[in-house]
Amino acid sequence: MGTSHILTLEPQYLKIVLSTGFEHYEKGEVFRDVFRSLFGTGVFNSDGEMWKFHRSITRPFFTRDRISDFEIFDRHADLVIFKLKERFSQGFAVNVQDLLSRYTMDTATEFLFGQDVKSLSGELPYPSTYKGCTPPHVHPSDKFTSAFNRAQEYSYPHGFFAKAWRLVEFWEDKVAIQREITNEFIDPLIHTALRKKRDAKEVYEVDKDDGTLLDHLVQQTDDFDVIRDEALNILLAGRDTTAALTTFVVTMLAEHPDFLARLRKDVLDTLGPNGKVNPENLREMKYLRAVLNETLRLYPSVPWNVRCSKNSVVWPALDGGKQIYIPGRTQIHYLPWLMHRRKDLWGPDAEEFDPDRFLDERVKKYLVPNPFIFLPFNAGPRICLGQQFAYNEMSTIIARLVQAFKEISLDMNSNPEAKPPAAWALGPGRRAVEKVWVKSDITAYANGGVWVKMQEADME
Ligand code: HEM
Repeated sequence: MGTSHILTLEPQYLKIVLSTGFEHYEKGEVFRDVFRSLFGTGVFNSDGEMWKFHRSITRPFFTRDRISDFEIFDRHADLVIFKLKERFSQGFAVNVQDLLSRYTMDTATEFLFGQDVKSLSGELPYPSTYKGCTPPHVHPSDKFTSAFNRAQEYSYPHGFFAKAWRLVEFWEDKVAIQREITNEFIDPLIHTALRKKRDAKEVYEVDKDDGTLLDHLVQQTDDFDVIRDEALNILLAGRDTTAALTTFVVTMLAEHPDFLARLRKDVLDTLGPNGKVNPENLREMKYLRAVLNETLRLYPSVPWNVRCSKNSVVWPALDGGKQIYIPGRTQIHYLPWLMHRRKDLWGPDAEEFDPDRFLDERVKKYLVPNPFIFLPFNAGPRICLGQQFAYNEMSTIIARLVQAFKEISLDMNSNPEAKPPAAWALGPGRRAVEKVWVKSDITAYANGGVWVKMQEADME
């Protein structure tokens, strides 16, 4: 369709694109156009001066103190544990992907807007094989979350058709329709925040370590659309990524009981059965961090990404090969998903799930000399703004889960359609051993969910 494309899994080239040669690359016109209906002009979907502006108004919000508010994570984690115990006591498996998406939706909306959508209060879905179930009650939060989910789902085909997507959706922009529904939730909150600012007699100062993202944004600008796009960008950037990752963590723990036992020991030795995660004890739980990193390596939430060359560039020759000429406006695709599995970069056991590789001599051998082999959060000036927030949130929910439950098992019979295609078992690589149907649109996910049962921990 008249566009040049190149695909690379080469860390040395990604270092140039994302970091050392940053000024020669951008997200680009195609990306911005394809995702405009979803992201508007927020931080995720802007380039150049516009991106700098967005990044500058958003970054101060992610200060260490503010993102270390574990109380929000903990309160919602209580509800997750309650829901799990309730459903297990009825003898059913739970789709953790659905549950953890509700968790990250509620924590993120409270953190960003000061008011959560309360999706955890809704009824969890029953296994598709349970004939006696009545359709779950429609919870008020369903409207927002389903529109939010559909907006992302409908954006993916935009990427496929590139600029031609407008022809395919000539009569209606499917994503924009969903965004109107999500706006119904966000708009009143923005109006309130702006009114609060206007009504304040003196300049309305938000405490440095207090206030929501909205409180913070209205200090920076009165532009309603900018505030709305920005808030929604951060919700989009932060919700599914963390939900996906924690879902794959639970999947891996179910598949590897020995790693679950080690993780429980790490967490219980540090926190005991009821202790809460805080910034100090988080540093001590090294195995927990290794489990998160190993999952981010094999199942990076953003498996595919793209940049566009602003002008023609030449990449250096590597390993006796040739230099590579990249014309201006070339779409440069890169896939952390595949790069993270390269045996020449990570060792012969690269396709195995083994958290110890982030703790033993393999760190010095592979990662320290070549940090660009691990890019779950991207790198350079556009590195993920929510990285620390995500580690805090993910650590809290995983620690709480292993405190409360001592065994986890997959129960994929609860939804036979969630099983990976039979042909995968004959294929190469990790596909052959996958027990869940891994798929991806903007973020990775398990098709049909991940259904699990858990055994409650004894009162230790
Ligand atoms: C496991 C969790 C997460 C992963 C794996 C992740 C990954 C990423 C990646 C790969 C990017 C780069 C996207 C690109 O440049 O095309 C990114 C950007 C971003 N992330 Fe995250 N993210 C996570 C969680 C979060 C959270 C919780 C938040 C906020 C609450 C967040 C906020 C952002 C923002 C604002 C950007 C845009 C940065 C920019 O373009 O300047 N992320 N993230």
